[in-house]
Amino acid sequence: MTRRSSVWHPFFQHATEPAPPCAISSEGAYIHTGRGPLLDAISSWWVVTHGHNQPEIVQAIRDTAGQLDQVIFANVTHAPAEDLAEALVAMTPKGLDHVFYSDSGSTAVEVALKMALGYWRHEGDGRHRIAVIEDSYHGDTIGTMSVGERGVFNAAYDPLMFAVDRLPFPQGDGAATLAAFDALAASGQMAALILEPLVLGAGGMRMYGSSVLAGLRGICDRHDVLMIADEVMTGWGRTGRLWACDHAGVAPDILCTSKGLTGGVIPLAATLASARIFDAHRSGDRRRTFYHSSSYTANPIACAAALAQVRLWQSSPMQARLDELGAMQARHLAALAGDPRFENPRQCGTIAAIDLKVPKGGYLSEVGPRMRAHVMAEGVLLRPLGNTVYVLPPYCVTPDDLDQAWGAVASFQV
Ligand SMILES: Cc1ncc(COP(=O)(O)O)c(C=O)c1O
Repeated sequence: MTRRSSVWHPFFQHATEPAPPCAISSEGAYIHTGRGPLLDAISSWWVVTHGHNQPEIVQAIRDTAGQLDQVIFANVTHAPAEDLAEALVAMTPKGLDHVFYSDSGSTAVEVALKMALGYWRHEGDGRHRIAVIEDSYHGDTIGTMSVGERGVFNAAYDPLMFAVDRLPFPQGDGAATLAAFDALAASGQMAALILEPLVLGAGGMRMYGSSVLAGLRGICDRHDVLMIADEVMTGWGRTGRLWACDHAGVAPDILCTSKGLTGGVIPLAATLASARIFDAHRSGDRRRTFYHSSSYTANPIACAAALAQVRLWQSSPMQARLDELGAMQARHLAALAGDPRFENPRQCGTIAAIDLKVPKGGYLSEVGPRMRAHVMAEGVLLRPLGNTVYVLPPYCVTPDDLDQAWGAVASFQV
């Protein structure tokens, strides 16, 4: 007998989708469900980096949970948050010296936007406009939807959203994007540019080159516009380097991280900012205080998990693993590249994507749910973005796991 559920699932159409399998345990690249194992080929919405239930991270959670639970973070501090902040400052691009904690990718971005606007206000400058790249995604809160692409995801909430300036998605050398941004930035109204560096995830795994990212940084410098790098998806190795910004040798003024921060075991986010931004809020004038918090800010258990995750980067040959995984993904993409059912193969580090050739693409393309059901029946968890199929696996996947994931994609009848 199927149990009646009161749960309202995210990004899930209850009218048409079959009841989801119930996850019972998870380990490595697998989710074990009541209906059998599922290969998690999308790292459970891009959060799992090393693998599910990574032992060192789980142990850190156990150790901390017996000692320190949630404590207010306004007038109290604790070692897991302090140690993690120190480690994050050391391993992020130069100049990001201050760490503000929150709970999710969306809150990390909201914090970044507030920091940027707060900075200009406290500097006595009226800049308030935000530039974004077409097809971006930064979360599902009102502020993050405002700086993301408008469409089927958020049309109903349009009256609540604020206006932003949109740059065309960078094609080729990105000349049109750079020119558009240069013109906007020259207006003196631009507070910040927010971008997903190198890969626009939810926007369809759209990829652009590191020279464009470097070019955008140059324009920010020239016109004194803050650059916010949303590394929520791209961070922690997904693009083949620790940070996507590392490919371009670029340091943003503000960097957002979440998802892989705890290896995908427990929620946590951090927004890192330069001294310039922190100092604008540090004042004898209490009106300049950074007025943002959430109840669970810097949860010690989550910070300890993140610290254990960071230690894995410091103690294991992560770069070699990323390179190996990237090479395996490249071989699978190459095998599909000549297949007439597919087009536009693309890869950035461990992320590989390809489009199904269909008359009608876009997020609501009917081919997405059909592909998802097909691969699920083959024991593989994928969630195509419309007609874009992508494999974004935890770093512990084996060659056999990847054969299974791509084999399931290849056996789909369009
Ligand atoms: C680039 C980017 N920013 C922000 C978010 C929002 O993160 P969360 O779902 O944890 O709020 C996501 C989620 O997919 C993302 O890909």
